[in-house]
Amino acid sequence: MGLRVKFNMILISVAILGMALSGYVSQRILHQNAREEVLQMAGLIMESALAVRGYTIEEIRPLLITDIANTFVPQMVPAYAAHQNIKRLRQHYPDYKYKEATLNPTNPASRATEWETEIVETFRNNKQKHELIGTHESATGNNLYMARPITIKKQSCLACHSTVEAAPPSMLARYGTSHGFGWKMGETVGAQIVSVPMKLALSRADTAFRTFMLSTAIIFGLIILILNILLSIIVLNPIRKISSHAEVISLGKLETPELKVKSHDEVGVLITSVNRLRRSLVNSMKMLGKE
Ligand code: HEC
Repeated sequence: MGLRVKFNMILISVAILGMALSGYVSQRILHQNAREEVLQMAGLIMESALAVRGYTIEEIRPLLITDIANTFVPQMVPAYAAHQNIKRLRQHYPDYKYKEATLNPTNPASRATEWETEIVETFRNNKQKHELIGTHESATGNNLYMARPITIKKQSCLACHSTVEAAPPSMLARYGTSHGFGWKMGETVGAQIVSVPMKLALSRADTAFRTFMLSTAIIFGLIILILNILLSIIVLNPIRKISSHAEVISLGKLETPELKVKSHDEVGVLITSVNRLRRSLVNSMKMLGKE
């Protein structure tokens, strides 16, 4: 096996090992980053729902509440405002789903499903918990979710959510009297849940991973190529020259001119030694010839 083959086998093994190691570490980091990025966006969506809820309660509701006994304007309902806001937001971020999952909702569309109920129950049994992050398997694949509790903190909420008698008749005419009542002050009635398909988070990470691995492979390839060129120039070519010179001398052609010493490294020392060997051989032959 030639020197070049040995050298390249070692280099390629080191490159493969290095790529496997950096691939493993970088994939983990990239997946972690992608997950955090998606969760950050989910948090922003929730905050934007909360912000529009606050805006509706403080600025819109007082304007529209004047004739609430007769006409019900959904625009004054914080939950309605939040849903409308998120609906528009989702035109740009269609992968993010938002729901105010509620155990006993006014709008049946907001009723918590089985897995959402579990989340709401966790918040109800654990008052100091303010956020849950996890994964949930659905028909379309694995989803990453972030959830925060919806707790009744304002007395004004109970004007519509406490009893049928207290609720404005115009609202009852629209939503009925059978659900969405009996909420209490301080009660966690539901949870804001933002969910995102896991593959969205992972596909971003995978694109970054492929680019990283490709560039690493190109860098290793270039290093191996450059080292091969240097190996030829610095080691293999001089050695080939010296060995063919030594071969010629060993066959008895002592008149062959000496090799020139061009460097002071190991190759230079070797050439000097071979030249000295040739001279010694010539002298010995001469002495032999004389006797
Ligand atoms: C003017 C009456 C009114 C007031 C005040 C009100 N809500 Fe509602 N709320 C509604 C109606 C109506 C809906 C259903 C909206 C829809 O069509 O999705 C609703 C929906 C909700 C929902 C979504 C789940 C469901 O029941 O459909 C939550 C959560 C909620 N309200 C919480 C609150 C909180 C918290 C407050 C106080 C900050 C509040 N609401 C104040 C009328 C009201």
